[in-house]
Amino acid sequence: ILDQFHVTEEYGFVLLRPLENLPPYFQPWMEIATRVPELIESHSLRETVLKMPLLDASLLRGHRQLRLGHLALSIITMGYVWQEGERNTVKVLPRNLAVPFWEVSERLGLPPILTHADAVLANWKKRDPEGPFDMRNLELVLTLPGGDSVRGFFMVTLLVELAAAPGMRAIPEVVNGVCQGDVAMVIRGLEALSEAMKSAKETLKLMHVYVDPAVFYGIMRIYLSGWKDNPSMPDGLVYEGVQQEPLEFSGGSAAQSSLFHCFDELLGVKHEANSGAFLTRMRSYMPPTHKNFILAISARPSLRDFVLQRADAALTDAFEDCVTQLVALRGYHINLVARYITLPAARAKRLRTDEDASAREQDTVGKAPAALEKRGTGGSGIMSFLKTVRDKTKTVSVSPR
Ligand code: ALA
Repeated sequence: ILDQFHVTEEYGFVLLRPLENLPPYFQPWMEIATRVPELIESHSLRETVLKMPLLDASLLRGHRQLRLGHLALSIITMGYVWQEGERNTVKVLPRNLAVPFWEVSERLGLPPILTHADAVLANWKKRDPEGPFDMRNLELVLTLPGGDSVRGFFMVTLLVELAAAPGMRAIPEVVNGVCQGDVAMVIRGLEALSEAMKSAKETLKLMHVYVDPAVFYGIMRIYLSGWKDNPSMPDGLVYEGVQQEPLEFSGGSAAQSSLFHCFDELLGVKHEANSGAFLTRMRSYMPPTHKNFILAISARPSLRDFVLQRADAALTDAFEDCVTQLVALRGYHINLVARYITLPAARAKRLRTDEDASAREQDTVGKAPAALEKRGTGGSGIMSFLKTVRDKTKTVSVSPR
């Protein structure tokens, strides 16, 4: 079942063996994409992009070339838009970037902006190809300003996806068990799922080791943010040569990870209207096969109804464990946001009113965009969104403990 949705038993939604380079014809893209941090530092990315040749994206062959093409063009686009910070943004993405970016996006069914599917799922390589998937052996293919913390943020997120992958393998077991009325099979699947969520949460803790809050808040976040629900890009962005009207696209968000959508659909979590609408919209920021996997789960008979009907103690326990683990995972995410966003945002606010301008300039956090103080890079009101989502998750419990 998993195959048809481009989900693998071992790696879940992670792209297998992402390409590290494109055919020679596309070198102008790769050359700029690999130099984005340095070109931003010297304030010369925009002028470099303006000189970039207009290449024919139809010459990209196969899924993995398209994914690397999308990653490269999205990294260049984020750098182009945000090179001068939140005040001096642009209204137009030039034709030689916008036209091929649009075409690649259409072919993949992804939006023309950096997504989780780019920065995390298709942006890794192993230093030693035979070596393990761990922080020492993982490298980014392309990066953004922020040095080691960028690698930390994207690669820890990749490890979370991998840690949760056994849960994706367990989903067909649970779904089929329900259809066949096989309680033991459902329990086995749920136990694996609960383990997977637990291990995803443990892996998330690595953020503290590899991502510096000041760098994350002060330098990285703006490059992950988009041109929808963002006060510093109120009109969206014109993709020159594609359409004259400006278009709005959301920045990167954990809501673009298919994992959580699968857990929610399986357990039957019903989200509150606003956060539910945001989550649903984020499904069109995923590769379509992954979105279809989520929809396929939601089309199957309800697991929660099955648990209620059977009233089997072991089955109920296994279901409750999953709910508990998912709530804990979301709770841990909230803690991370407190450390990486809420606390630095409070400091940035103090710095803004500080009369000593040099204190402000010396503090990395002081460089952060004010527009992202209360919002996630995806545009949601981040804390209230995450808390609502967590609280709705609690309500699927069948025997509140
Ligand atoms: N969505 C995360 C943020 O808001 C990346 O910083």
